[in-house]
Amino acid sequence: MCPDTGEPARIYLDNAATSWPKPEAVYIAVDHYQRQLGAPAGRGGYAEAITVAQAVNDARRKVARLVGLADPSHLIFTLNGTDSLNLVIHGLLGDGDHVITSDVEHNSVLRPLTHLETAGRITVTRVGCGAGGVVDPADIRAAIRPATRLIALSHASNVTGAVQPIEAIGRIAREAGVLLLCDAAQTIGHLPLDMERLHVDFLAASGHKGLLGPLGTGVLAIRPAAAARLKSVRQGGTGTQSDETRQPEQLPWKFEAGNLNVPGILGLRAGVEFLAERGVMELHRESQDLTTQLLAGFAGIKGLRVMGPSTSDQRVPLVSVTIEGYDPQEVALGLDAGYRIQVRSGLHCAPAMHRSLGTHASGGTIRFSLGPFTTASDIDAAVGAVRELASSQMWI
Ligand SMILES: Cc1ncc(COP(=O)(O)O)c(C=O)c1O
Repeated sequence: MCPDTGEPARIYLDNAATSWPKPEAVYIAVDHYQRQLGAPAGRGGYAEAITVAQAVNDARRKVARLVGLADPSHLIFTLNGTDSLNLVIHGLLGDGDHVITSDVEHNSVLRPLTHLETAGRITVTRVGCGAGGVVDPADIRAAIRPATRLIALSHASNVTGAVQPIEAIGRIAREAGVLLLCDAAQTIGHLPLDMERLHVDFLAASGHKGLLGPLGTGVLAIRPAAAARLKSVRQGGTGTQSDETRQPEQLPWKFEAGNLNVPGILGLRAGVEFLAERGVMELHRESQDLTTQLLAGFAGIKGLRVMGPSTSDQRVPLVSVTIEGYDPQEVALGLDAGYRIQVRSGLHCAPAMHRSLGTHASGGTIRFSLGPFTTASDIDAAVGAVRELASSQMWI
């Protein structure tokens, strides 16, 4: 209960969309920048501008370390995960290229690819994932052709939470000389990541989900050996080589045109520091326990179907369900209106995934996604509320 209003406290279970709450240090970092620092990064010689430039570089180093990228200059700050994915798809692909992707993907991969495909510039093979929601590496291998330039795959589905066999697919890609773009929007900050071990060339992710930064932040980690193959897609000021009208070739400036979102990046740095202090592996274990608790609670509810893996192994901390006879949208509205439990319903921008699950025509799923501040009593409350709603006749 909220002590001020006497109403149920807000239980936020939409962390896969954007994480909330953030660690206290994130709010402090954004506030401190806005009130005290107030200078652009890499564009001035006065004290605050130097402090800001150093802090942004420190953020770059810390995110690079988190994903196993040795050279921090190849860590690019972007607007969000979608922006990072677009940067690779539009910066890499040329006429006649072939791309392999899957039915697991979010629209932030599917739409840029479809855009180029319908313009007649590229061809795309979309491999299936079956009702289990996991791509078979053998299907990726079978789809490779001489013209294949890129494999673009999610590390984990934002609908089922299933973790994909990226390491095995990365090995196949490397052997075939094809580049691998990994959409780590749902795994960064939730699972330990090492892009070298996974054989990933481009790792695209949001800064505002598992990394706990503010909205308006994203990251793209580029394997140095793949960097030269990526063209600049947006040009403008960088604060370097100002007498040159061509975009600098050096990273990160090649891909960072215009002023950076400094308040967002400094908030993101505080989020990453929180992850380093608590340990990604430790947080992962805690969220696995809560996911197990959620799955166990849901297992006893009549008519409820859980998508994806039946255990919390090989899963990020999100669980999508349907309840027979109930519209997902109405269940989500009922959870908020009756219990202040906030979840996401619908197709979650992943239409092909829902076709594979057989949930497309019936309005998708109800998704519960956890963050580092989710508690066991939040999970109990969610299970209790779903049980109550599922046994009422309200929406039938
Ligand atoms: C799997 C996946 N990829 C990409 C995105 C896009 O991320 P962003 O909202 O940061 O653009 C999302 C967002 O929900 C996602 O779940």
